[in-house]
Amino acid sequence: MKFFIDTASLAQIKEAKDLGILDGVTTNPSLMAQEGISGQINIINHYKAICDIVDGDVSAEVISTDFRGMVEEGKRLADLAPNIVVKVPMIKEGIKAISYFTEIGIRTNCTLVFSAGQAILAAKAGATYLSPFIGRIDDLNWDGIGLIAEIAEIYAVQGYDTEILAASIRNSKHIVDAAKAGADVITSPLGPILALLNHPLTDIGLQKFLADHAKAAQNA
Ligand code: G3P
Repeated sequence: MKFFIDTASLAQIKEAKDLGILDGVTTNPSLMAQEGISGQINIINHYKAICDIVDGDVSAEVISTDFRGMVEEGKRLADLAPNIVVKVPMIKEGIKAISYFTEIGIRTNCTLVFSAGQAILAAKAGATYLSPFIGRIDDLNWDGIGLIAEIAEIYAVQGYDTEILAASIRNSKHIVDAAKAGADVITSPLGPILALLNHPLTDIGLQKFLADHAKAAQNA
């Protein structure tokens, strides 16, 4: 399973990259706004800065909601770097745009996915990645991880190539459960990724190893 970081923060992207486990980055308009990035030129420059840090795929989301606008914006974004993946919302015009991008060889990430039916449409259109939002589904007391498992089963049965990118990750258990359910990729904020490190027995064990080592050195 690939690890993407879900942020527009250059500092957090660098921190995840330094761990040596980073396969890519996803952003969205809310994450760009959180970093105070606005205006076409600043947005473009920010994507370039992200692509300078990571070799893996970087999802850059279109703002337009009509076919023509999405195509113009998507082509501009795809021209920025070979690792840009154009992120397109799961709406009728979005599916048309994904089909067109597939035809001309631009890779896509179909975002805002909340059902298996939407997942089938995106795969038929040739989306490179599919982003089901598991945290937002859980927020409504539905089963986000259950949706990942359902899509993984459908994609396996049908032989679809689209990669399942579990998004809207809220905690480290989501990452573990998405791996079990068959996600090809998770995209997560830095916090849940770092929380995978945590276990009290690791801390206790390390303290004891270091204390025993120090005692042996004293007695030598
Ligand atoms: O990038 C899309 C997704 O990961 C958003 O997550 O936490 O805003 O539901 P969240």
